[in-house]
Amino acid sequence: MSFLLSAYQTLRPLLFQMSPETAHGVAFTLGKLAQPIPGAMGLLSAIAGKPSPNLAREVCGLRFASPLGLAAGLDKGAELLPIWKALGFGFVEIGTVTPRPQPGNPKPRLFRIPSEGLILNRMGFNSEGAEIVAQRLKHRPSGLIIGGNIGKNKVTPEEQALDDYRAAYRLIAPEVDYIAINISSPNTPGLRRLQAPEALKPLLEGLLVTRQEMGLEHQPIFVKLAPDLAFEELDAIVDVIGASGMNGIIATNTTLDRGIVSEANRPKVEAWGDGGLSGVGLKPKAQDVNRRILQRLPVGLKFMACGGISTGEDARQALTDGAALVQIYSALIFQGPGLAAEINRGF
Ligand SMILES: Cc1cc2nc3c(=O)[nH]c(=O)nc-3n(C[C@H](O)[C@H](O)[C@H](O)COP(=O)(O)O)c2cc1C
Repeated sequence: MSFLLSAYQTLRPLLFQMSPETAHGVAFTLGKLAQPIPGAMGLLSAIAGKPSPNLAREVCGLRFASPLGLAAGLDKGAELLPIWKALGFGFVEIGTVTPRPQPGNPKPRLFRIPSEGLILNRMGFNSEGAEIVAQRLKHRPSGLIIGGNIGKNKVTPEEQALDDYRAAYRLIAPEVDYIAINISSPNTPGLRRLQAPEALKPLLEGLLVTRQEMGLEHQPIFVKLAPDLAFEELDAIVDVIGASGMNGIIATNTTLDRGIVSEANRPKVEAWGDGGLSGVGLKPKAQDVNRRILQRLPVGLKFMACGGISTGEDARQALTDGAALVQIYSALIFQGPGLAAEINRGF
């Protein structure tokens, strides 16, 4: 086992004594303190191990040092980009960023089930807003692909969603390498309804007009989908995305399905209340959805697999199934920062 993985196993009991959001805050504070120390990122990269050069690949004209990325939601404000790069990630999806700042849902809104490697969250797009995040991105490190995941503010009515996505797009797109349209978070009321073909088509068409107006035709846009769609719905959605001129799909976001939790833990999870589940138990569901999408996705569109990936073998399987890239989130919380390099070695 690598040094980082075993060091995290020692530290984890301490971190897991704190509430999940406090632990997140402590880890981010430490990261922000470490980042500017001269030589610290070089040392971290040497300890973690750089991705092997034969992992590098080109997707949608972008050069990824590794097909492994950090999924949206962990570094919403693009605060720790040098750290993710040093840990071996080929790309990071920042966000979800909303056009205007908003606090997200009241706390507690983040829960973990360590025995099952599961997380429940109802963060509700806590975001500093697109202006602040765009400013921070101006100091992004080189050699790391950055995706900007954008969403709408909670108070914006569904009928005006396009205005919000456009506002966030205008600020974030110039600072990132690709854009992800998040229409699949379960924690913003009505957001998932934007996945319905009749709502999705005008949304995507509108965004493509904005992309063209800004002269960013060559910058890829991905659409991020939920795991809770019936296959017929999913097929119709993939067809709309395929015909739209978008560049690809990311799947999946968190699930509303409490059936992925063991019976022993289900009452506890029910008591925690609303939110989306992620982690190991999401894998079979996400895999089914991924395979269905891949069967139908027109040639030329790219796919990023996400949901329950926690080992090098999982990641390799996703690529074998046809994904161009893979993303992780929950497994990093349970296995720690050494996981990225471990998965890189597993490829
Ligand atoms: C605490 C938390 C916050 C998240 N926030 C976002 C978000 O803001 N935007 C988004 O598109 N996905 C968000 N996600 C979903 C992840 O990006 C990912 O799709 C999901 O967790 C499944 O991957 P995993 O099983 O590897 O965690 C969040 C997930 C968690 C656990």
